[in-house]
Amino acid sequence: MDRRIIAEPYKIKAVEPIKMTTRAQRESFIREAGHNTFLLRSDDVYIDLLTDSGTSAMSDHQWAGIMWGDESYAGSRSWINLERAVREVYGFKYVVPTHQGRGAENLLSMLMISLGQYVPGNMYFTTTRAHQERNGGIFVDVIIDQAHDPRSEHPFKGNLDLNKMTELIQRVGAENIPYVCPALTVNLAGGQPVSMDNLRQLRALCTQHGIPIMYDATRAVENAFFIKEREEGYADRPVAAILKEMMSYADGCTMSGKKDCLVNIGGFLAINDETLFTRAKELVVLFEGMPSYGGMAGRDMEAMARGIYEMIDDDYIAHRVGQVRYLGDMLMQQGVPVVRPIGGHAVFLDARAFLPHLPQEHFPAQSLAAHLYVESGVRGMERGIVSAGRDPETGAHRYPRLELVRLTIPRRVYTDRHLEVVADAVVRLLARRESIGGLRMVYEPPTLRFFTARFEPIS
Ligand code: F0G
Repeated sequence: MDRRIIAEPYKIKAVEPIKMTTRAQRESFIREAGHNTFLLRSDDVYIDLLTDSGTSAMSDHQWAGIMWGDESYAGSRSWINLERAVREVYGFKYVVPTHQGRGAENLLSMLMISLGQYVPGNMYFTTTRAHQERNGGIFVDVIIDQAHDPRSEHPFKGNLDLNKMTELIQRVGAENIPYVCPALTVNLAGGQPVSMDNLRQLRALCTQHGIPIMYDATRAVENAFFIKEREEGYADRPVAAILKEMMSYADGCTMSGKKDCLVNIGGFLAINDETLFTRAKELVVLFEGMPSYGGMAGRDMEAMARGIYEMIDDDYIAHRVGQVRYLGDMLMQQGVPVVRPIGGHAVFLDARAFLPHLPQEHFPAQSLAAHLYVESGVRGMERGIVSAGRDPETGAHRYPRLELVRLTIPRRVYTDRHLEVVADAVVRLLARRESIGGLRMVYEPPTLRFFTARFEPIS
């Protein structure tokens, strides 16, 4: 493996014991959970790769901030610190705090989308699109075609296809596009980044047509690291400067602090437009809380303010992305089909290629995730037909080309040794893949079905 050893740029001060379970126990747990890894109890999970959201380990400095947090209802010092951190690091003028990312998506969608308008994005994210649709918007995927091909080695598979953007503008008119929403990185494409060049060109196109750009900046620091690694002219620039430049091409962003910002809860909407900011402050009071806490406790804001400075440390982010790649490299070397190149927050198993004998209606990724849990106590998540949900117009399943199991690496939580255990379990499953059957959905909730749907094995 041609990986120069990058050990953790931190040492461990507190540990959290984890429980080991037997295979027989796990078989019973997954049955009780309706073969949905979301419905497992975390106590029954050995290595939890369900999500990188809100699962980060905070630093001693952040924990000190928890104690130091100012719980005053108004004018809290911790809010002032958070607002300052967002302004300094992201560079936007105005900040509206929210309890997490979807709180900010709700505000933005309500403020900007009118019934029947089109919102282009680079592949969908579940909650982002759900809020756009709830507010009468029609999501349009304008990501480059390579993003839908798990084998394409394009270095910036998150890029927006500017021809698709131009066609959309010509077809529906710029006045029917309230904003474009590029996600940095693209979660469902495999944690794939967007290039600086693409962001710059998008800015030029949108300025020409008067269309605002609102990023989903949830994993923008990971995106900045890929730009540093892969894009000419950025190798010697600090990630902090790259992040700032990326943000300079947008009018605002929504943010889930639970990822990049190294906290367990929190988010924000950041914007440059004063009128929009005033309206956002009016709305946040209804849905989240005062514009000086937005659903967060003072201590949460203090921890996030500190996390924002830690996330742009070059050694931290190199290790973070490098650790994800370490797992991906181990799997690729053993012939496991994964989305390539390895993204910033997770390794995505290609369930179609892993289980070619299963049709998509038998939920191959859902089944693979359930089997991985039984095999090893490792919990991943389906990102395929179940997550894609149904078309609101026709009511039919949406059939995404990507049928994936996401193994998401929490920040600063697991060691490389844990990841070796994960790789070993996946390789064992690959060796006996013919024994893995499909599933039938026996309960389906009306929205965001992947969270609570239940399944049974097809015998
Ligand atoms: N945008 C992206 C790209 C996300 O990945 C998420 C959350 C959100 C927005 C919403 O943020 O959870 O704070 O409300 N992703 C988590 C995940 C749930 O596991 O991928 P939130």
